[in-house]
Amino acid sequence: MKPPGEGQQNALEITTNWNGRPMKIIVTGSKGKLGQRLIRVLSYSHDLLGFDLPELDICNLQDVIKQILQFQPDILINAAAHTAVDRCEDEADLAYQINALAVRNLAVAAESNRARFIHFSTDFVFDGERQGPPYIEYDTPNPQSVYGRSKLMGEREALFNCTRSIVLRLSWLYGSGGWNFTDWVIGEVRENRPVRIVTDQLGCPTWIGDVVNQVIHLFSTSAQGLYHCAGKGCCSRYDWACEAVKCAGLDTSLVKPVTSTEFKQKAPRPTYSAMRNFCLEKQGLEVMRPWQDALKDHIFEE
Ligand SMILES: NC(=O)c1ccc[n+]([C@@H]2O[C@H](COP(=O)([O-])OP(=O)(O)OC[C@H]3O[C@@H](n4cnc5c(N)ncnc54)[C@H](OP(=O)(O)O)[C@@H]3O)[C@@H](O)[C@H]2O)c1
Repeated sequence: MKPPGEGQQNALEITTNWNGRPMKIIVTGSKGKLGQRLIRVLSYSHDLLGFDLPELDICNLQDVIKQILQFQPDILINAAAHTAVDRCEDEADLAYQINALAVRNLAVAAESNRARFIHFSTDFVFDGERQGPPYIEYDTPNPQSVYGRSKLMGEREALFNCTRSIVLRLSWLYGSGGWNFTDWVIGEVRENRPVRIVTDQLGCPTWIGDVVNQVIHLFSTSAQGLYHCAGKGCCSRYDWACEAVKCAGLDTSLVKPVTSTEFKQKAPRPTYSAMRNFCLEKQGLEVMRPWQDALKDHIFEE
């Protein structure tokens, strides 16, 4: 079943460019979770081209420029990234190449085509050393992992090299199209297997469907710059798991609370990474919803 609004033209959505032809959009990372959803939703009303490995490696500047010059997109959306947070610790060169330097390639290519450039970053740019209030765009990042540092550099490459860039910082992203925390928890509990979930990591579960709606909403605005784009509200991973299991009509007794000290992970995670969508909110651009409402839609859609 389609989520509310999917495939229907949003009243504010711009689907044609200045000369009246359908907007041309390129999505890189089109086989990833966010990329798949962008392709699925945007293909209803836009002239769309999706790329992923192996057909286009965003690290290859010449190939990126060639594709942009050939298709001449109005908008370039980059959903490609090295997202394996622990692996990034061992593959730092590759992480910086994909998450930072390749973003420069895309931003330069977008700029040379006078296209808008939409790029995604992460809550892992923060160190999580505080207990609140939620981070806003004007808080100072201090990433603790290679992944977080490479994504922060990617933000700077996007904003510095393309005058029409939008960088959306996401957090605790979930949605269909690949492994995700919500579906994993529900799947385990459905199979009667207990899951141990940490109570001391706090953040904002963010549904991919809402992110795509927010991106589409921004098409119709002159927004540019850095924006937090997270589900509204804050919870622990344990609260998130319980809410998902409850929404799926299952018993939460198999969700067992534990602390992070019981889990050894190679890359440090921020213990507190809740974000407030301050800039979207203050500019009247926000369509993000409370995380619990989005979770229901995701589960209903599956
Ligand atoms: N997942 C989260 O919890 C989360 C949280 C906050 C922010 N974000 C950000 O949100 C964005 C989307 O995340 P996601 O979860 O949808 O990622 P994903 O599922 O890992 O998808 C990323 C896609 O990019 C592709 N890719 C990797 N290197 C590439 C290259 N050199 N050239 C072209 N494509 C390449 C990957 O291909 P392979 O699979 O073959 O490598 C994959 O298909 C990313 O910017 C991520 O940093 C994610």
